Amino acid sequence: MKHVPVLLAPSLELLLGNPALGAGGVVVDATFGGGGHTLGLLENSPERVRIVALDRDPEAVSRARGLKEDFPSRFRLLAGNYAELPQLLRAEGIERIDGLLLDIGLSSYQLEDGERGFSFQSDGPLDMRMDPAVGRPAAEIVNQADARTLARIFRDFGEEPYARAIAREIVTRRETAPLLSTRDLAGLVEAMVPPHKRTRRHPATRIFQALRIVVNGELEALEKVLAAGLEILNPGARMVVISYHSLEDRLVKRFFRQAARGCTCPPKIPVCTCDRQAAVRILTGRGRRPDEAEVADNPRSRSAVLRAVEVL
Ligand SMILES: C[S@@+](CC[C@H](N)C(=O)[O-])C[C@H]1O[C@@H](n2cnc3c(N)ncnc32)[C@H](O)[C@@H]1O
Repeated sequence: MKHVPVLLAPSLELLLGNPALGAGGVVVDATFGGGGHTLGLLENSPERVRIVALDRDPEAVSRARGLKEDFPSRFRLLAGNYAELPQLLRAEGIERIDGLLLDIGLSSYQLEDGERGFSFQSDGPLDMRMDPAVGRPAAEIVNQADARTLARIFRDFGEEPYARAIAREIVTRRETAPLLSTRDLAGLVEAMVPPHKRTRRHPATRIFQALRIVVNGELEALEKVLAAGLEILNPGARMVVISYHSLEDRLVKRFFRQAARGCTCPPKIPVCTCDRQAAVRILTGRGRRPDEAEVADNPRSRSAVLRAVEVL
């Protein structure tokens, strides 16, 4: 069980392509996970560049011991939610940074550990909290929310076409016994999706994604860190975001497009009155995706999309 970093080469090239880093600086990897990107940054950046990493999962944080020994003066790992990135950095005496990486979603360690409850492929408690000390486990939502709320969660955060039917079935089934394990829920969902409507993906993929997003407040955290990034990144610094499903990617794409827009006055007005200036330049056009070789080597990279901007 190991996490293979996704789109590593373009991430490093973009983040370290900031010429100001030659004189030193701080690059933040806000999603440490298995540390693959952090290691790449440490090995490929000038000695004067410090790498500060962050993860909200205590198990990820405990995996960093080796890196701390290998790079004692250049590497620092913080525990916490990237929604609070500026505050976490300020506590370390860091006000501004020179690069920011967000490789969002789950690590292989989280997915493959049945006890964390993220995977429908292994049995475990329906938990799904990245930080087990924060928030409510997924089982509470599944067993307590009403059918309308469940349907909305599955539709809005999973884009699940059978959202209402699955929600109703959950409410009926839990009258007999609560749904407590990943296998209980995956089995129920599987039975609700007609065989001719199934795709290569397991029918429970969208439902698990939706619950995970809600349990961890993932979209709110992403919105916050994107906005904070623009505030704390120095001019010339790059922000690189890798996302794994369309809800996240859409949010990132729209945020970057909005930040890259200058004047928004109607074209007929001869002189600009809005005074809006672009805050970033988009570096990746329609987004970068892994090539065939990477997907063959690491199937989990299949859905990844990388978007990057340079702060102006
Ligand atoms: C896809 S993995 C990162 C893998 C890493 N880039 C590597 O190469 O090993 C995502 C990591 O981000 C963490 N994470 C997700 N949301 C977070 C948040 N809001 N704040 C901090 N860490 C978060 C997860 O716990 C997970 O360990």
